[in-house]
Amino acid sequence: MFPTNARHVHRLLKFRHTVWGPVGTAPCSRLVLGIETSCDETGAAVLDETGDILGEALHSQKEVHLRTGGIIPTVAQQLHRENIQRVVQEALERSNVEPSQLSAVATTVKPGLGLSLGIGLEFSQRFVRQHDKPFIPIHHMEAHALTVRMLQPVAFPFLVLLVSGGHSLLAVARGVDDFLLLGHTLDEAPGDTLDKVARRLSLIKHPQCSTLSGGQAIELLAKDGDRTRFPFKTPMGRMYDCCFSFAGIRNQVTMTIIKKEKEEGVEQGALLSCVNDIAAATQHTVASHLAKRTHRAIMFCKAAGLLPPDNPTLVLSGGVASNQYIRKALTIITEATGLHLLCPPAKFCTDNGVMIAWNGVERLREGKGILPPNVDVFYEPKAPLGVDMTAEVKAAAIKVPSVKMKIPN
Ligand code: KG4
Ligand code: ZN
Repeated sequence: MFPTNARHVHRLLKFRHTVWGPVGTAPCSRLVLGIETSCDETGAAVLDETGDILGEALHSQKEVHLRTGGIIPTVAQQLHRENIQRVVQEALERSNVEPSQLSAVATTVKPGLGLSLGIGLEFSQRFVRQHDKPFIPIHHMEAHALTVRMLQPVAFPFLVLLVSGGHSLLAVARGVDDFLLLGHTLDEAPGDTLDKVARRLSLIKHPQCSTLSGGQAIELLAKDGDRTRFPFKTPMGRMYDCCFSFAGIRNQVTMTIIKKEKEEGVEQGALLSCVNDIAAATQHTVASHLAKRTHRAIMFCKAAGLLPPDNPTLVLSGGVASNQYIRKALTIITEATGLHLLCPPAKFCTDNGVMIAWNGVERLREGKGILPPNVDVFYEPKAPLGVDMTAEVKAAAIKVPSVKMKIPN
């Protein structure tokens, strides 16, 4: 994914951004503390201006929410409250950085669970006031979209598909704070669908899946499954836009589970014998849906001249982008359309403090959205990303040629 010459160019680019001190002194680079609490991860990291991670810490609430069968906002809030101080302190200690050395603090303020966002925001505002530091409010989806640029040089504009537990969107990233929204989910997000299917299948009782998120459990079980046994229908075949819908897939899967429970004579909550096949068919349908809508977005971008003719790129990120089968489905589409697919490693696809700090670095470099410490900032549970182009995409009504989704397991 990161060829040597790309690494070399990246190092040169990093060098360019280094700020040199007075003659004879070591180069100095501005430092940003990033804080993430938008959902169920309490994350913090310190990055320098070149994107080097000096220290990071992450507390995941996943196992607690797995046991309660989903995220209970008040529980998430309490866990953020209990952990934020320690997580931030650990990130600072690991990076050997004192608060006084920071150039800014960047924190997710939208979109996400209000109660969770509130903890990170309240902590951050207290912190920047105490240490008299600038504050950079961060849009969580902007951070997912830009993470790739911390790892290798990716010039604007590029197409981005962001898939997580709370979102599914296609956008053209034209600049750090300049996005064109081509499509979004009309109901639930793919990670949410996979989590709910996993819960309905009681995968927490499966010996291999007890500590895995729903998406991870489905991916693991699907490896030994036959996806052709349950031919679920890919949604929105007659809607010629780039929006998504996953509730219908979940409904089809639930109906199949109910039917199989009757056939096997087992109660809801027991593990079905065909879990691997159901997991494989669900994953394939989600992957095909994402691939088809992305194919249309690529065609729209080409027709509208929204991507560069040289090396046009699709970036895939967000928690669901950790899924190797979904990555392969998108590779089929990018190969068919001449795009280059880039995907951060799984650790940077799921929520973390590093991506927020990096977004802070990108904004600091461009002097965008940097606030003095005493300005009151409010969190926003719902916040669209960029300029809404979904009506233009729909009006273009682009028919996508059929591509065989022969995805190797
Ligand atoms: O980006 P993220 O950490 O949090 C949100 O912003 O939502 O994404 C979490 C979601 C969960 O729904 C989880 O089931 C899903 O990402 N996920 C996966 C995989 N790993 C995590 N979905 C499919 N395959 C995976 N390997
Ligand atoms: Zn996320």
